[in-house]
Amino acid sequence: MKKIFTIFALVAGLFSTNNTHAQINEGTNTMENKKILVAYYSYSGNTKEVAEAIHQKVGGDIFEIKTTGTYPDDYKSMTEQAKKEIEDGYRPQLTTSVADISQYDVIFLGSPIWWGTITPQVSSFIETYDLSGKTIIPFVTHGGGGKSHSFTDIAIQCKGCNVEQNGWSSYGSITIGLDRWLAKVKE
Ligand SMILES: Cc1cc2nc3c(=O)[nH]c(=O)nc-3n(C[C@H](O)[C@H](O)[C@H](O)COP(=O)(O)O)c2cc1C
Repeated sequence: MKKIFTIFALVAGLFSTNNTHAQINEGTNTMENKKILVAYYSYSGNTKEVAEAIHQKVGGDIFEIKTTGTYPDDYKSMTEQAKKEIEDGYRPQLTTSVADISQYDVIFLGSPIWWGTITPQVSSFIETYDLSGKTIIPFVTHGGGGKSHSFTDIAIQCKGCNVEQNGWSSYGSITIGLDRWLAKVKE
């Protein structure tokens, strides 16, 4: 199954283009005196681990995105349901909430890669809250296919946000190089 995702993600990546309408940002996020939120969705725990590692290093608040909806235990059925949800633009309702989103300047936004993109749960977060004017720093975990078109998809979905395109992506919960990456995006 992982091999299938790798091929899918690589092919999808070939066809992804930079969105010229969204504001993007490459490594110019001064964090001093900025209020930081680390928000993430994790299905099987990898993205949660990376989120906690980032939170430990940058401080601020941490928020786990949870939503309505369930998935079958069977892996193949689960991935098929997820695929259909992504194709249909399904947006589950958030069941956890951020107390006051307006207080945050910078949001580290984490998602597993599902079928080359972010999960419907993360899209729901983006569309539920007014994130315009905020700096969004994406981080994703994957099963070998890389970030694919996730960062550009965030830039498309997050209207008026400054989306850092030098986001973090790792195979599973590996965090080697996290300090170096953080130093670069905080420049
Ligand atoms: C529904 C589904 C779709 C996936 N699609 C991809 C993919 O397109 N490319 C990839 O590299 N990994 C893919 N994976 C693997 C996950 O991105 C990877 O295991 C990730 O670290 C899981 O994060 P989590 O433990 O926080 O849920 C997929 C996994 C699932 C369950």
